[in-house]
Amino acid sequence: MKPARESWTTKLAFILAAAGSAVGLGNIWRFPYVVGENGGAAFVIVFLIIVALIGLPLMVTEITLGRETKKNPIGAFKALAPNTPWWLVGAIGVLAGFVILSFYSVVAGWGISYFFQTVTGSLTEGTDFEAAFFDHVGQGFAPVAWHALFMALTGLIIGLGIVKGIGRAVRYLMPVLFILIIMLVIRGVTLEGASEGLQYYLQPDFTSITWQTWLDAAGQAFFTLSLGMGAIITYGSYLKKDDDVPGSASWIVGLDLLIALLAGLAIFPAVFALGFSEADGPGLAFITLPAVFAQMPFGMFFGAIFFLFFSVAALTSALSLLEVVVAWLVDEKEMSRPKASALVSFGIFLLGIPASLSMGAVDIQVMGMPFFDFLDYLQETFLLPIGGLLTLVFAGYVFTASKTRESANENSTSFKLGVWFEWLIKYITPAAVVIILLAGLFL
Ligand code: PFF
Repeated sequence: MKPARESWTTKLAFILAAAGSAVGLGNIWRFPYVVGENGGAAFVIVFLIIVALIGLPLMVTEITLGRETKKNPIGAFKALAPNTPWWLVGAIGVLAGFVILSFYSVVAGWGISYFFQTVTGSLTEGTDFEAAFFDHVGQGFAPVAWHALFMALTGLIIGLGIVKGIGRAVRYLMPVLFILIIMLVIRGVTLEGASEGLQYYLQPDFTSITWQTWLDAAGQAFFTLSLGMGAIITYGSYLKKDDDVPGSASWIVGLDLLIALLAGLAIFPAVFALGFSEADGPGLAFITLPAVFAQMPFGMFFGAIFFLFFSVAALTSALSLLEVVVAWLVDEKEMSRPKASALVSFGIFLLGIPASLSMGAVDIQVMGMPFFDFLDYLQETFLLPIGGLLTLVFAGYVFTASKTRESANENSTSFKLGVWFEWLIKYITPAAVVIILLAGLFL
């Protein structure tokens, strides 16, 4: 007989797990470098607008669809619109989970490796950090081995299930994350010369906003909030009926924003104080920061804390990416959870190999870019925004906006969503996503 479907043991367990999904490399690795590439504080403001306009409504919608159906993304669409092709939206999500985790795990592996390199003192002052980074990611074997280790750990926890695996992991890991980031912020802002970085990060120059700023902000919002691929539908599906959807959604979005903003606050003052460039792109965390740490008092200690923070945050997000695919196999294909987890983890490990190798060891290109970049491009430009848009259209017009609002409001103890919410998910939020998608394709 099939075992009963699990549910979160407490309200806090769900919020921690979903915040664990949201807070990840998107906050620590991606957010600061995207801010750096887009001119600082003005980008942060555009990002906040996008989160309010797209992120929050979609967060509420995804949690609601999950709680309403108690199913994985494919099953959820099938349950609400049987015998229609809407289940394909769930399928985009399952595909996205597979694609994102394959390169996400490679980056997480770099983080673990940098943690050990920092602890053992091999990243000290005088190192050519740029060369060290490209040497590391360009090696054939080592990064693949770290990626394998990370996938094995993720697969193990997901194999244990919702309560014993995810619930237990996030209960310990999320408070640790919070303490680590606070330590890093205090270190950053108390460095001599920190004020220039603070100014860059907090004083907007609105003339620097372009279409590209909005585009980058939207891509960042989907990714950092884990939206558009059913990860939140899946986590919402383990909610009990008596949980509070609008309240939980606000907590999850709030915590994710807080950690992203704190990550910037930890990083920019340090980068400016020590005279590095803020616009270093994806290398910011691995090239600029180790150089910053090497020069600061107790840098080895803070460097180790940073990469520990990095790896832990990646792990709690990876759990949700894997869970989307595993929940589908468990719910729809009746596979046992440990078997599904082992199988999918191995598959993702395999897809991650060419992604890792394409960073320098072997020339693997798709559409003129390294395979690694191609996977990221795929999720950012297509999978998440299209998945998010179709989820909104489904909730607004097929399940209907009034039912979505009613279902979200059921048992809410914090606040109830007004009719404005229906307007938002029917017109405003989808229109914003369409504009951004079109701008991305044609500009
Ligand atoms: N939100 C995660 C981060 O910011 O790193 C990444 C992510 C997790 C994206 C889960 C999508 C997802 F479904």
